[in-house]
Amino acid sequence: MDEPAYQLSRTPPTIEDYLHVRASSGLSPKSVPQGEGALAGSWCWSVVRHDGRAVAMGRVIGDGGWYFHVADMATLPEHQGRGLGRRVLTDLLAQIEEAAPEGAYVTLMADEPGRRLYASMGFVEAAPESLGMRLAR
Ligand SMILES: CC(C)(COP(=O)(O)OP(=O)(O)OC[C@H]1O[C@@H](n2cnc3c(N)ncnc32)[C@H](O)[C@@H]1OP(=O)(O)O)[C@@H](O)C(=O)NCCC(=O)NCCS
Repeated sequence: MDEPAYQLSRTPPTIEDYLHVRASSGLSPKSVPQGEGALAGSWCWSVVRHDGRAVAMGRVIGDGGWYFHVADMATLPEHQGRGLGRRVLTDLLAQIEEAAPEGAYVTLMADEPGRRLYASMGFVEAAPESLGMRLAR
């Protein structure tokens, strides 16, 4: 992240960049209406841009009180391994620290590529007390 070409900001990505970074980094592709909901309804964003385009991102879905869920952690493959994901997550946690009342409960669903990063930043497995579940459709 020392490269001046990478710029971190808290401005959400464009819908085009959001859909592109998700799909190109291997996360499931989403539709425009899904992306628009994500852009409008998130509690905060951290986005790294390169030449004006988003190359790494993450967001927090939250109630602003105590419940915060980190989502959409993704870095374009050609920009991975340069500290961008760590920078994004550090900034998301800083935003929670800055704006949330004390005692925030911060969760995420840890896909394999992110586990080392999350563990190194203090995340621990919720199981066996709490098993992550999703509605199967
Ligand atoms: C997870 C992800 C966002 C990390 O982004 P990144 O910009 O490459 O992350 P960083 O360069 O900041 O690396 C952060 C940590 O990830 C780990 N890491 C980096 N490259 C790795 C690799 N090839 N394999 C496993 N862990 C790796 C390291 O622990 C690294 O910490 P370090 O800098 O102390 O070595 C990125 O791999 C990605 O977009 N993956 C595909 C999408 C995805 O699965 N997202 C997670 C959803 S839960």
